[in-house]
Amino acid sequence: MKFNFTIFPELKTERLLLRKANFNDTKAVFDLRSCEEINKFVATKRVKNIEEAKDFINICDKLYKEENRIFWLIHYKNEVIGSIVLHRISLKDSFAEIGYKLKPTFQQKGFMSEALKEVLKFGFKSLDLKTIEAFTHKDNAPSIALLEKNNFVLQPDKTDKGFEHNRIFKLVEN
Ligand SMILES: CC(C)(COP(=O)(O)OP(=O)(O)OC[C@H]1O[C@@H](n2cnc3c(N)ncnc32)[C@H](O)[C@@H]1OP(=O)(O)O)[C@@H](O)C(=O)NCCC(=O)NCCS
Repeated sequence: MKFNFTIFPELKTERLLLRKANFNDTKAVFDLRSCEEINKFVATKRVKNIEEAKDFINICDKLYKEENRIFWLIHYKNEVIGSIVLHRISLKDSFAEIGYKLKPTFQQKGFMSEALKEVLKFGFKSLDLKTIEAFTHKDNAPSIALLEKNNFVLQPDKTDKGFEHNRIFKLVEN
């Protein structure tokens, strides 16, 4: 494995910077994780206030140190426009899950495709993952389109216990 979790892996694409969240980003994290429109299809708990957004950043730091999660904020020009995460990372099983969110005004402009490609490359090449899965609501057409466009394949026999409306997509290193 080439990446060893010492220095946070900042990633760059043609238009975007993917970077670590710090406490100056608390408001941006709050906006992304509390907005009903962004989280319409997301089952995880909304953050309710700035304190909970701060807690979330702390949890991300802790899980990064445990080599279990890498949470990136997505920057376009001078603004945080979204986030993307590899979580439930298991280096032992060469496995991770991926999740993502974009502010509504930045959707459908190809931004998440751009960020996702870079994170997948990082996951497969630098973390030596073999499998990346995504859990998404069956009615989340934008998310499903994004996944299928990036060669994720629906796992019809796999279910998300407690979240029966979720569909599981899988991408295997080629
Ligand atoms: C899912 C999400 C990240 C997609 O990001 P995005 O930057 O808008 O996606 P892209 O512009 O890169 O588009 C990727 C593909 O999906 C398709 N797509 C995007 N939005 C779509 C929509 N509203 N309806 C149908 N297709 C859509 C695009 O057409 C594109 O394919 P194309 O290049 O062939 O046209 C964004 O809609 C979002 O943040 N949603 C809210 C959060 C969320 O639900 N996250 C997933 C939780 S599992």
